[in-house]
Amino acid sequence: MVKICCIGAGYVGGPTMAVIALKCPEIEVAVVDISVSRITAWNSDALPIYEPGLDEVVKKCRGKNLFFSTDVEKHVSEADIVFVSVNTPTKTQGLGAGKAADLTYWESAARMIADVSKSNKIVVEKSTVPVKTAEAIEKILTHNSKGIDFQILSNPEFLAEGTAIQDLFNPDRVLIGGRETPAGQKAIAALRDVYAHWVPVDRIICSNLWSAELSKLAANAFLAQRISSVNAMSALCEATGADVSQVAHAVGKDTRIGPKFLNASVGFGGSCFQKDILNLVYICECNGLPEVANYWKQVIKINDYQKTRFVNRIVSSMFNTVSGKKIAILGFAFKKDTGDTRETPAIDVCKGLLGDKALLSIYDPQVNEEQIQRDLAMKKFDWDHPVHLQPMSPTSIKQVNVVWDAYAATKDAHGVCILTEWDEFKTLDYQRIYDNMQKPAFIFDGRNVVDEAKLRAIGFIVYSIGKPLDQWLKDMPAVA
Ligand code: UDX
Ligand code: ADP
Repeated sequence: MVKICCIGAGYVGGPTMAVIALKCPEIEVAVVDISVSRITAWNSDALPIYEPGLDEVVKKCRGKNLFFSTDVEKHVSEADIVFVSVNTPTKTQGLGAGKAADLTYWESAARMIADVSKSNKIVVEKSTVPVKTAEAIEKILTHNSKGIDFQILSNPEFLAEGTAIQDLFNPDRVLIGGRETPAGQKAIAALRDVYAHWVPVDRIICSNLWSAELSKLAANAFLAQRISSVNAMSALCEATGADVSQVAHAVGKDTRIGPKFLNASVGFGGSCFQKDILNLVYICECNGLPEVANYWKQVIKINDYQKTRFVNRIVSSMFNTVSGKKIAILGFAFKKDTGDTRETPAIDVCKGLLGDKALLSIYDPQVNEEQIQRDLAMKKFDWDHPVHLQPMSPTSIKQVNVVWDAYAATKDAHGVCILTEWDEFKTLDYQRIYDNMQKPAFIFDGRNVVDEAKLRAIGFIVYSIGKPLDQWLKDMPAVA
C-alpha cells in the first residue's frame, strides 16, 4: 500500500489530503502537524477550518485511510511520498525583511525528514515557496541522507478557499515539476498516478522544478493584477460617473480577457496574493530586475490605495470625523464562504477607522471574537506562523465589539460597511436596519452586494465601489 504523509494540517494540507484519501481508497494518507489543537480539531466534529463540502469528505475517509496525528516523525518515516505544506511567512527582520519568504518552518521540516527517513522518499513542495526552494531543500536532504534517495517535486496547489473541495475535485490543471533525470521523471510519474485516479491526464501538466515553482507565483500575481486593474478603474469610474460593473461586464465579454476576477472590491486579501507578489518582487530584485520588481509592486500599491480610499470615503462623508461614532462592520473574512481572515482588507479598514476613533461593531457569520481581536492587535505578517507561536493579544481593543447578528451590529450605528460579500447581506431587511440607525444613515458597500437604488429609496446615503456617486459624496471627495 502506498503511504502518503502531509506535514502541515492547514488550509492547503487538510482539504487536499482529504480529497486524495477519498479518491484513492488504496492509499493511506496521514496528515501531521505540530499544533495539538489543530489535530484535535481535525479528529473532532468541529473541523479547524470552514470549507463547504469538507465535512462530508473527511467523515467518509477519517479512520479508514485518512488519519490526523501529531506523531510527525512516525508518519514521515513510514511514508513513500511526503507533502510539505507548512507556513512560509514573510520575513519581518534581516535580509529581505517585508518581502522575502521566511523558510524557517520549511527548513526544519526538511531536516526532520532527513533525520527520520529510513527508506527512499518523494518530497513534494505543496505550500507556495520562492523559486529555487526545491534546490535548497534538495541540498539539506542529500547532505543528511545516509544513502537514502530523495526526489523533490514541486506540486503547487491552485485551490481557492470557499471552493476548495470543488477545485480539488475538478481542477483546471495539476502541475508537477521535477528534475529532468530518470529518477526525477519516475517521481513525477508516481505523483501523476495519484492524481490520475480522478483528474484527466491531459490536465496533469509536467514541467521542470523551477517552472512549477514560478508558475504558482505567476498565476497568483496575474490574478491579483486583474483585481488591482479593475480596482484602479473603480476610482476612475467614481470620478467620471461611469459604473465599474458595466465597464467590467463589457471588458469581460472579450473572450481574450474573459469575465472572471473582474469584481471591483475594497481590496484583495487572503494568505497568498500579497505574500506571493512580495516574494516575486524580491526574486526580481535579487536577479537584478528592478523594473520587473516595480511593475509587480504596483499591484500591491493599488490594493493598499483601494483600502485607504475606502476609509477616506467613510470619514469624509461623515463630516470628516468618525470619532465616537458607532460603525457597523458586516463581514470580516477575506471572502465569502470561509472563516479565514489572513490579510483580509477588513483588518486595514477597521484599523483605519479605529485610528480615527470610531467605535466598531463587527459581525461575520464565520469569524469569532477572539480571532477578530487577535487580528486587530497583531502586527503585519505575524499571522503567518503556527498558531502556538503567534503572539497572543494581551488586551482586547475596547473600541471593538463583536456581535453575532447583523441587526445587533447596525443598531444605533451611524454607518454600515460591507467588507465581505456573504450572501446573507444581500437579503437583509434594510428598512429595519435603517429604522434603527442614527440619521443620516450611511452604507459603504465594499463588495457591491447591495441594490443602491432600493437603499436610496429607503433613505440611506449609499457609497458603492466604482459606482456613480451619491450627490452627498460628490461634495466630499475622498483623496487617498
Ligand atoms: C487564491 C488563488 O485564487 C488560488 O488559485 C491560490 O491557490 C490561492 O490564492 P484565495 O486567496 O483562496 O485563492 O481566494 P480568491 O478567490 O483568489 O480571492 C482572493 C481575494 O481576491 C479575496 O479577498 C477576494 O474577495 C478578492 N477578489 C477576487 C476580488 O476582490 N475581486 C474578484 O473579482 C475576485
Ligand atoms: P496553508 O494555508 O498554507 O495551509 P496554514 O498556516 O493553514 O497554511 O498551515 C500550515 C500548518 O503547518 C500549521 O498548522 C502549522 O502548525 C504546521 N507546521 C508548521 N511547521 C511544522 C512542522 N515543522 N511540522 C509539522 N507541522 C508544521
